[in-house]
Amino acid sequence: MNSEEFRRFGHELVDWIADYFDCIEDRPVLAAIQPGDLKAQLPSTPPQQGEPMEQIAADLDRLIVPALTHWSHPSFFAYFATSTSGPGILGELLTAAFDNKAMLWRTSPASTELEEVTLDWLRQMMGLDPGMIGIIYDTASVSSMHAIAAAREGVEKRIREDGMSGRPDLPLLRIYVSEQAHSSIEKAVITLGLGQRALRKIPTDSDFRMDARALAAAIEQDKREGYLPFCVVATVGTTSTSSIDPVPEIVSICEEHKMWLHVDAAYAGSAAIVPEFRSILAGCERADSLVTNPHKWLFTPFDLSVLYCRHMDLLKRAFSLVPEYLRTPEQEKVRSGSDYGIQLGRRFRALKLWMVIRYFGHEGLAARIREHCRLADLFASWVEESKGWELLAPHPLALVCFRACPKGVEDLDALNERVMHGVNSSGRALLSHTRLNNKLTLRLSIGNIRTTEKHVREVWELLNEQLRRVT
Ligand SMILES: Cc1ncc(COP(=O)(O)O)c(C=O)c1O
Repeated sequence: MNSEEFRRFGHELVDWIADYFDCIEDRPVLAAIQPGDLKAQLPSTPPQQGEPMEQIAADLDRLIVPALTHWSHPSFFAYFATSTSGPGILGELLTAAFDNKAMLWRTSPASTELEEVTLDWLRQMMGLDPGMIGIIYDTASVSSMHAIAAAREGVEKRIREDGMSGRPDLPLLRIYVSEQAHSSIEKAVITLGLGQRALRKIPTDSDFRMDARALAAAIEQDKREGYLPFCVVATVGTTSTSSIDPVPEIVSICEEHKMWLHVDAAYAGSAAIVPEFRSILAGCERADSLVTNPHKWLFTPFDLSVLYCRHMDLLKRAFSLVPEYLRTPEQEKVRSGSDYGIQLGRRFRALKLWMVIRYFGHEGLAARIREHCRLADLFASWVEESKGWELLAPHPLALVCFRACPKGVEDLDALNERVMHGVNSSGRALLSHTRLNNKLTLRLSIGNIRTTEKHVREVWELLNEQLRRVT
């Protein structure tokens, strides 16, 4: 593609994207297709000759868009609602153009240094301790896995060198999470070869927060029984309800037992940039590591997850391996991303976050998150005031857990399932669900940059319309 062609199709595609956002509300939020529909329309063999760009672009409208679930739709309220933004998209475009592999400082000084500076800005915005040094990975699952690997390195049992199997000298390592923790922690435990039995799930209180007393008792018991407790993962903003574990109490327990505290703030970390929500990170100034996902609630395109870590030396000790062909004269003086993880090449992700933070400013980002929390409060007040609906969990941020509970209906799970199905299949909004206290629970998450009060009112009307239809 010569530069003339690139310019032409590039402009056309940027126009196409602008139109996509202008008209996104005309599209069904959830892809209205059946499994296999797209595959059936695609050739099963690759084209032998190149095809004209016009034809490829036409297939975007004809084939790809109908198979999209529109995460950028303002009535997307499922999972954790997220969205990209103009500056973030342009940042991605530039990242693809530069195509840097930021494995060493010299293979991309811009990526390495911009990452350090941008993550320090974000740290300041979140009010995190200056001892916390940031590094970017793709997702929170991967960030947490690296944090747990660093924690394991800290137990000083030569696991990097000798592994964990066939070692009578190595007790079973234990890591603790609440019953509400994200499955990514268990996956990290599996990936790192610790084994699922190394993970102990601690019960939660009536607000779905880790019971710190039960944690302390579990650690004491495990120690008595010969286990080696080494890490606790607390969650600030759990996936099901956005509950916030009592980090100040948990961190004291970790300090007492010399254990690593990793905080999973993948969702809620962004809210700490709003001064009045900063207290959600209370206690995290004493944590060893913390993950937050700008790709969740900071209007940055997927993917970009940040791990803040107080012990970069341990992270490096767990992962650094420098063969001759990667040795550079400056390596002792600079940071090389590949020293801190399993990847060698790393995308230039910091660019889009830098552009997002500069474009909106701290205040602009905080104002949007604050508004999302206001809208969630408003929605929760409608639920609370309505007969036939109830809240099922506190809503500290912008996620509301609720269900329909009209009088005289025995199987409320089935009823709510039908209500949710009705909403989602209408294409006008998308919700997701969880199970709390064995009740099927609807979740409404507000995090999209385009979501306004109008959209929240519409989904409330839609929910009521569906409830009338199924009762
Ligand atoms: C609390 C929490 N931690 C971790 C994750 C995993 O995030 P990622 O998709 O970035 O791996 C999620 C996803 O929603 C989450 O809610």
